[in-house]
Amino acid sequence: MKITDLSLKNFRNYEFADVFFSDTQNLIFGKNAQGKTNLLEAVFYLSCLKTFRAQKDFEAVREGEPFAELSGNFEAYGRQLSVSCKIKKNARELSVNGVSGIRPSEHIGTIKTVVFSPDDLSLIKDGPARRRRFLNLAISQMRPAYIRALAEHNKIIETKRRILKMEDGREAYFDYLDVLNEKLASVYAYILSERGAFLKKAAEIVKRTGFQISGGSEEISLSYSHASSVERTDDEENAKRLLLHLTARKEAELSSRSCLIGAHRDDFEVFINGKSARDFASQGQIRSCVLALKVAEHEILENDSGEKPILLLDDVLSELDPHRRSFLINDIDRGQTIITGCDPSMFSELIHGKIFTVAGGAINGENEK
Ligand SMILES: Nc1ncnc2c1ncn2[C@@H]1O[C@H](COP(=O)(O)OP(=O)(O)O)[C@@H](O)[C@H]1O
Ligand SMILES: [Mg+2]
Repeated sequence: MKITDLSLKNFRNYEFADVFFSDTQNLIFGKNAQGKTNLLEAVFYLSCLKTFRAQKDFEAVREGEPFAELSGNFEAYGRQLSVSCKIKKNARELSVNGVSGIRPSEHIGTIKTVVFSPDDLSLIKDGPARRRRFLNLAISQMRPAYIRALAEHNKIIETKRRILKMEDGREAYFDYLDVLNEKLASVYAYILSERGAFLKKAAEIVKRTGFQISGGSEEISLSYSHASSVERTDDEENAKRLLLHLTARKEAELSSRSCLIGAHRDDFEVFINGKSARDFASQGQIRSCVLALKVAEHEILENDSGEKPILLLDDVLSELDPHRRSFLINDIDRGQTIITGCDPSMFSELIHGKIFTVAGGAINGENEK
């Protein structure tokens, strides 16, 4: 998959911008706060319809402007895709090849991207929500049904929460909680099976990558932890077992006034040489673990669709030592890559493609290498 060109209007610090990308590597240089990450964010937005930074889309609209317009031309599965998106205060207008009214679950996944930014280094040490986000984003790009399932799951949890937290009259909803649990079990069984399948594939890749970047001394492994001991058999069987679990925990949920079981409680753990990376890994080992997870995400998305996702590397090369850096850039063909950084001397020798410079929301230079 490739982006051939991007044009922005009132997106973050860009009033206008037009960028024509190389099919291979693209290096974007500039001092801090000039708009490098904003450019990657725009590419990511056209692919996943969310920013990888802000909570609210509208924060990405240039200050003082009513809306932002992003459009990009992509190539995926031998087709040209022209994606345009307007971000407004409380709305988004998406059109693909001139057709408007496209729903997110129809679009997400048609252009796949993998982002790696310094923020991702918190994947290991941060709480479970961070790791769930990683799983959700990757799986959503492969399975539109997963996006819908997650939305339904979250709606059920929200309703359950409202009931559980009621001061008076919860009794009237006891039977309704059973109905909600039944729905939850079925949708959660599907989410569990997708997450389980993803982590199973990821486990093999992180193990191999860990050995590759450490010269054989570091074995990285993964385990999925969730409140119910359900392993993937089939979704229907799992749903039955989850329902038993939910029913058994109903009293506990009522007394704690919270939803104790669901996809919102799950997590996965990363181990390095058998020890929890969260508790024991050094800074260097954390970088290896996150790099391995990103390589896994990239490879799984590629294997699933037959095309390499667009790889966005935001300022991470300077965070990696030369060995890991060269592994990420050169050891494996990663398809189209867009890389940002401050210091051109550090890795320009690694890059084959185009070099851009960004200053004050303007793309100033462009050289072929
Ligand atoms: N909504 C916005 N409107 C105008 N400027 C913005 C907006 N959001 C961020 N910026 C500006 O964008 C700049 C940061 O751009 P960024 O891409 O993060 O820089 P970097 O080159 O360091 O990656 C900052 O100057 C910030 O003030
Ligand atoms: Mg940046």
